[in-house]
Amino acid sequence: MTLTTRQPGRSEVATPETRKMKVLAIGSQKGGSAKSTTSLYLATRFAEYLGGTEDNPVVGLLDRDSTSKNLTGMIKVRRSLLRPGVKLLEGEELPKDDQNLRLVVIDTPPGLAAIDSLQSADLLVVPVIPSEQGVVNLVQYLRSIKGQRVSVSPHMRLLALLPANVKKDSALHREMLSIIRDLAAGYDPPLPVLTPVPSRTRIERWDLASDGYDEAAKELFNYARL
Ligand SMILES: Nc1ncnc2c1ncn2[C@@H]1O[C@H](COP(=O)(O)OP(=O)(O)O)[C@@H](O)[C@H]1O
Ligand SMILES: [Mg+2]
Repeated sequence: MTLTTRQPGRSEVATPETRKMKVLAIGSQKGGSAKSTTSLYLATRFAEYLGGTEDNPVVGLLDRDSTSKNLTGMIKVRRSLLRPGVKLLEGEELPKDDQNLRLVVIDTPPGLAAIDSLQSADLLVVPVIPSEQGVVNLVQYLRSIKGQRVSVSPHMRLLALLPANVKKDSALHREMLSIIRDLAAGYDPPLPVLTPVPSRTRIERWDLASDGYDEAAKELFNYARL
């Protein structure tokens, strides 16, 4: 008798096209640009839209910021941050066999690991604070993605920019917002800029009842066709 090693058929290999679950990364190379905050709010809103419940989590949160583990830490001390339908995933790899999850939201690290952490992402949203440093970092990050995404996550689509922690009374923020809009319009292909998230104490305290992310979350939900 000859023993043959069975090769998986094409249909058994989960490519981004066949996989039911979508993977949305929240990325930026700048620390303090609201990545973790955005990950938590978007995961929470998307779980609501997708009808997730405590018994049936539909959105997974994956913390790939291995040095700070800020998101994981916050959730561990305040379990109430995990709303019905959202589940905190263990480790940093995508779950292989969770049939119920419709979406995984990846919180990513700043700095050198920023691009590598996009591994296996289908979609990317970039939060950006409308400050001078925020804009400089955005330009560098967009350049890095263009140069390296083929090796990191070849199917990934850069979905939108999300101005975050925006102070509406700040002339600087208004000026930087218009620069961000120009950058987005000049990108190839042009990028949508989501409704800016205002700077709010309730968001800083991760009060998930704040509606600061609601418009952006709805827009993104439509773009992402979840
Ligand atoms: N819309 C907002 N309003 C007020 N504070 C915010 C807002 N978004 C983020 N922050 C605060 O800014 C800081 C950096 O946000 P964080 O999500 O931790 O950024 P990152 O993950 O990119 O390092 C945190 O203290 C957070 O609470
Ligand atoms: Mg963070």
